[in-house]
Amino acid sequence: MQFYRSSLFHCVEKNGSIQGEYYADGLLVINEGKVLEIGDYDVLCHQFPQEVLQKKLQNFPHHLIIPGLIDAHVHYPQYKVIASFGKTLLQWLNDYTFVEEQKFHQEDYAKHIAELFFTELLRNGTTTAMSFCTSHSQSVEAFFDIAQKYGMRMLGGKMMMDSHAPESLCDSVESSYNQSKKLIEKWHNKNRLLYSVSPRFALTSSSSQLSMAARLMREYNGGSQAKDGVRMQTHLNENTDEISRAKELYSQYENYFDIYDKHHLSGENSVFGHCIYCENEEFKRMAESGSKIALCPTSNLFLGSGLFNMQRLDEHNIPYAIASDVGGGDSFSLFKAMNEAYKIGALQGYKLDSIKALYLCTLGASKVLNLEHCLGNFEKGKEADFVALNLQATPLIYERIQPDQTIEELLFTLITLGDDRLVDKVYLLGEEIKIQ
Ligand code: GUN
Ligand code: ZN
Repeated sequence: MQFYRSSLFHCVEKNGSIQGEYYADGLLVINEGKVLEIGDYDVLCHQFPQEVLQKKLQNFPHHLIIPGLIDAHVHYPQYKVIASFGKTLLQWLNDYTFVEEQKFHQEDYAKHIAELFFTELLRNGTTTAMSFCTSHSQSVEAFFDIAQKYGMRMLGGKMMMDSHAPESLCDSVESSYNQSKKLIEKWHNKNRLLYSVSPRFALTSSSSQLSMAARLMREYNGGSQAKDGVRMQTHLNENTDEISRAKELYSQYENYFDIYDKHHLSGENSVFGHCIYCENEEFKRMAESGSKIALCPTSNLFLGSGLFNMQRLDEHNIPYAIASDVGGGDSFSLFKAMNEAYKIGALQGYKLDSIKALYLCTLGASKVLNLEHCLGNFEKGKEADFVALNLQATPLIYERIQPDQTIEELLFTLITLGDDRLVDKVYLLGEEIKIQ
């Protein structure tokens, strides 16, 4: 057993409403990598033999411990695409991203970048992510190999793209099916890893390829437990030029989402990135089908894609998360993503409160990935991935935090001023991970 005494915060849902639970002087008890207890130190400490507690207790006097952050939409091969100047989505893909992604046929390069990627995630307090790989199987092997080495709960999959892209990145319906199947058999549900079927977007997948992606999802749907099934990730309604092109290529469909929906790619294991420009009809069908959304604020601002609207998502009751979308996103820090989400809301008269923001990167994100049974907060029995944030990380943060602040105010300070510097220690299944 391990005992952590610290300020503790996590989100819970009670009667469908999001609530924060805060323990100013809390105790988190971990047993065999899972959460055993959480509560006030003064109350909980009596439940354990004093000699055990005193021997094993770790104190964090200037910290706030929160659940590990979850990034529901990221591209690990774009580690070095970050900070590419001056292009909007389609040009950015052609000029920077497709060029970099071609390097991932070399497994050594893929492993090198995967190593850097996971280190950077952990440095930022992100303990789980759903990532695209490239269309090369080698890139997926490298991704899962390194994730397994760190013991992280990770989701990812081979990018499917068979049209309108450089030839060296394109697969075919058949090769994509065979390679994905092999990777699923090897990696899906192995230790903490899960596979995500990953058609890039409608612009680079033929209709037959989208149908094949749905076939894979059917074949590995997890039987009666969707949480055991493969996930699906793609992009939707991110940029106005992208939408025009999707409608040109698939002119017989009602709207962009309808392309995926009619190809049977919607559902509770499906996560659609961006969703800035969805029509009401699209949101309606997304909600009906149980589909999920990953909002990508840093990316949308960096690429000048547009402003999403969280209120509309709430009205339609669609589960969503806040994600980094590196390398369209310009930071691995989900604190920065929350900060930009707040500003995107503010521009539209909506004030994203700090508890909800944290929820969208923890419990809410676990729901988006259909992992709420094992991740997202400190409920008893969940996997003990957590982060100790240093409340004295910078002089400004130290000075801005007031002793009489509410937890909402404290979290808002961290979201506004925080980044990787906040992250002092990271734990996976209760064990500290040493980050280089
Ligand atoms: N749409 C299709 N591919 C991509 C990608 O790699 N990044 C972003 N932001 N949007 C996409
Ligand atoms: Zn993306």
